[in-house]
Amino acid sequence: MGRHRGRGRLLALAIAFIPLSTAFYLPGTAPRDYRYGDSIEVYVNSLTPMLNSKLRSLISYDYYDQVFHFCQPDGGPVKQPESLGSILFGDRILSSPYQVDMMYNTSCNTLCRSHVPKDDAKFINDRIKEDYGVNFIIDGLPSSEMRQDVKTGEIFLDAQGFNLGKADPQTQQVALNNHYDIWIQYHVKDNAQYRVVGVMVYPSSRDSSPVDGSSAANCKTDRPLFLSETNDNDIYYTYSVNFIPSDIPWGLRWDAYLHVFDPKIHWFSLINSLIIASFLVFMVAMVLYRTITKDISRYNAIDLSEDVQEDYGWKLVHGEVFRVPDRPMVLSVFVGNGIHLLIMAGVTLIFALFGFLSPSNRGSLATVLLICWTFFGCVSGYVSARTYSTLGGEQWKPNLVLTAILVPTVVFATIGLLNLFLIGSSASGAVPFGTILAILLLWFVISIPLSVAGYFYGLKHGPFPHPVRVNPIPRQIPPKPWYLNTLQAAILGGILPFGAAFVELYFVLSSLFGNRAYYAFGFLFLTFVVLVLTTATVTVLFTYFILCAEEYRWHWRAFMIGGGQAFWLFAYGLWYWASRLSFDNFTSVVLYFGYLFIVALLDFLLGGAIGYISAYFAIRRLYTSIRVD
Ligand SMILES: *[C@@H]1O[C@H](CO)[C@@H](O)[C@H](O)[C@H]1NC(C)=O
Repeated sequence: MGRHRGRGRLLALAIAFIPLSTAFYLPGTAPRDYRYGDSIEVYVNSLTPMLNSKLRSLISYDYYDQVFHFCQPDGGPVKQPESLGSILFGDRILSSPYQVDMMYNTSCNTLCRSHVPKDDAKFINDRIKEDYGVNFIIDGLPSSEMRQDVKTGEIFLDAQGFNLGKADPQTQQVALNNHYDIWIQYHVKDNAQYRVVGVMVYPSSRDSSPVDGSSAANCKTDRPLFLSETNDNDIYYTYSVNFIPSDIPWGLRWDAYLHVFDPKIHWFSLINSLIIASFLVFMVAMVLYRTITKDISRYNAIDLSEDVQEDYGWKLVHGEVFRVPDRPMVLSVFVGNGIHLLIMAGVTLIFALFGFLSPSNRGSLATVLLICWTFFGCVSGYVSARTYSTLGGEQWKPNLVLTAILVPTVVFATIGLLNLFLIGSSASGAVPFGTILAILLLWFVISIPLSVAGYFYGLKHGPFPHPVRVNPIPRQIPPKPWYLNTLQAAILGGILPFGAAFVELYFVLSSLFGNRAYYAFGFLFLTFVVLVLTTATVTVLFTYFILCAEEYRWHWRAFMIGGGQAFWLFAYGLWYWASRLSFDNFTSVVLYFGYLFIVALLDFLLGGAIGYISAYFAIRRLYTSIRVD
């Protein structure tokens, strides 16, 4: 009783933690104190497309890509150190010539005069039409504009950056933003120490050619600046700096960025998926428990009676269920890699849930994912070895090699091709060679050896013993209903897990494409748990139906039913593309479908492995409980 109450309290604690975790984070870097007049470094990041109503591109450009002709610091821009995940997610952080000194308000500083040839002007205008945004990073904070949530009226900061320019949809005129008003919110600590607690940049377009005689840019004008595509342009970049006092303490400075859009919809989706999941679990428990106990008592009673009665239902196939399926090699490789992904995703989400992935560590989510993937390589080897030997496979050497390299090769090859495509289309956002090398090193030096070690450990544990013997001669399979065919069952079975997760998926996608921070990890974690439970339950239920129809080839069916959600994911990706995205360039389309393919493939492996493993243990349990002569 006491133990029971203790568990209840733990659960209550866990639930109380969820809303907190959406806004909770550990500060990643120590606060920096500035004195009056200390210079504050302004870093620039790559230019990214903004998600306003529709996303028009997926390509990001280096800030100092020559075509943009932004002002460079003396001695050239200096690269800033970044984490692997941050680079993979497109960050390229470099120094800039902006001069910002703590507590010095300045107005209309001329940054530089820039010469933009007509061809490059056309390129810039096209990017403005695609809603590209410029990203500054000041004291670790992304530059943003202050926005208001239309629904709740809350003020928040949008970390999407600020507009490169403004395209007028009516007149087709495209104005370049060449003046930036930088607003820095500061918080005074005692003894004249200041901390940066907010950064906003408001861009504007000003035709600031100097009035005759003067050499300084005249940025007091209201006339917008249009880049000519028929003549070369000489333009000025100007900026102003304003320091505004703020009472936000340093520890809470990220709160304005961690705006959860539509918390109601999150809750709605969560409750929706919880209902689906509990309904399912309940149904499966009822169906299986009642029918199976009835089945078992009847089967066992029949054995005791003298009459020779015919077996029926799933008991009929007791001599077949553990028959070796087609392609046990591929199946075990898939299952091993799927469980590997499951552990990787689960552990990363737990990290996120407890707030270790602070937004001030840029790219920490991707970095942790990568590290988890590397170090859980042993899981894939272990699971694959045990699955393969349970399936009676004997060619363990090729199995070992395939487990360690097949799936990562497909994924890395796809990413490599996409990267080549990016380089070929002369977009500057491709993953640099050094990063690729680092990932390959992680893979070859850590992940593969761990996978091999896991494999040998799995071999040592050997196969799971079958509870019933396999008949030497396979049974005939009677005709079965259409929905138990592999593909149909997979598509049907995939609906529920997908349905339980898709609203959250929508939020993940919009924050991914909107370049926004996604920090509703509490929701995401619960959704993930629900997804795993639903996948397992649906697969067990379908497998029961399959066996009742005297179809004993359940192995691949269970894998496909669990992985069926990937078909829906892919279809959803298509729909999202058609309705929310309108790419102007072919490269973005290729990138989108390349990444969609990878995500769907990984989801297929993950769901399939969950399905297969849960079906396997359910079947073991089932056939252990009957008496077979
Ligand atoms: C800078 O300007 C802002 C508003 O433009 C003002 O509120 C602030 O007090 C000024 N700060 C200093 C240090 O002069």
